[in-house]
Amino acid sequence: MSHLPDNSNAPNQPESTLPKVEVEPSCPICRSRPVIAIDGPAGAGKSTLAAHLARHFGFLNLETGAMYRALALKAIENDFSFDDEAPLLDLAAHTRITLEPQLEGNRVLLDGIDVSRRIREQDVTAAASRISIHHNLRVWMVGQQRALGAAGGVVMEGRDIGTAVFPDAEVKIFLDAAPEVRGNRRYRQTTPVQPPADPEDSGRQRPTLETAEQQRAAEEAILRDLKERDYRDRHRAESPLQPAPDAVILDSTTMTLDEVLARAEEIVNAHLSTG
Ligand code: DC
Repeated sequence: MSHLPDNSNAPNQPESTLPKVEVEPSCPICRSRPVIAIDGPAGAGKSTLAAHLARHFGFLNLETGAMYRALALKAIENDFSFDDEAPLLDLAAHTRITLEPQLEGNRVLLDGIDVSRRIREQDVTAAASRISIHHNLRVWMVGQQRALGAAGGVVMEGRDIGTAVFPDAEVKIFLDAAPEVRGNRRYRQTTPVQPPADPEDSGRQRPTLETAEQQRAAEEAILRDLKERDYRDRHRAESPLQPAPDAVILDSTTMTLDEVLARAEEIVNAHLSTG
């Protein structure tokens, strides 16, 4: 289980005396096991890949996006603006976010409450992308994330792991795919599969979950949200989403999941056999 420091009992402070946000440099010689950085846009399959690599190599899997989401949820619950950095930074200083790595992703606690499902909803998704543009907030997050991964033996997944959180990560993978493919994968993840027709029932009209028209509209809405988030993540001034110069770029547009997992295992094994 990985805990972030608990600052929730710190007294309320006026804006001018906000804690100065500084970050310890990352320290590769301090760790005996590697950091595997997985970056890439939304819907590329980073979480599936990170969970798989963590299981396969016996590492901890840490989803940094869940931290932005948890803080965004707290901002929503407290009616904070997503555009004003100072109050958000103050909110962060009084927030306890806990990531509990599980076999399939992270259980996420916000001030001790399990918010793992809630933070995946659309309003939190959009808010997380909006709050993540702020410089000091990112510095704060990077500090927490470095502390979590300092001992190594982690697969850390996000947007800036290889460029800002662990620029000295032993393995860096940038997982990408065409927007339409990512949108379609997201749609299939979030939409229940139509149950097969019951042969006994063949004479009756089976109620459809959605008409074809509604399905198309839902898929288009997911693609639109995804492109909007992509644009914000790639064009923000602070740590925009981009591959680190030394990252291996894995474009999964035409690859099967098994091919992606096998290729990523090869990349990690290549490091482990020389490292
Ligand atoms: O990976 P995710 O979809 O859960 O991330 C949610 C948002 O958080 C994403 O739109 C951008 C932000 N984020 C970030 O800026 N840096 C990270 N390392 C992880 C996520």
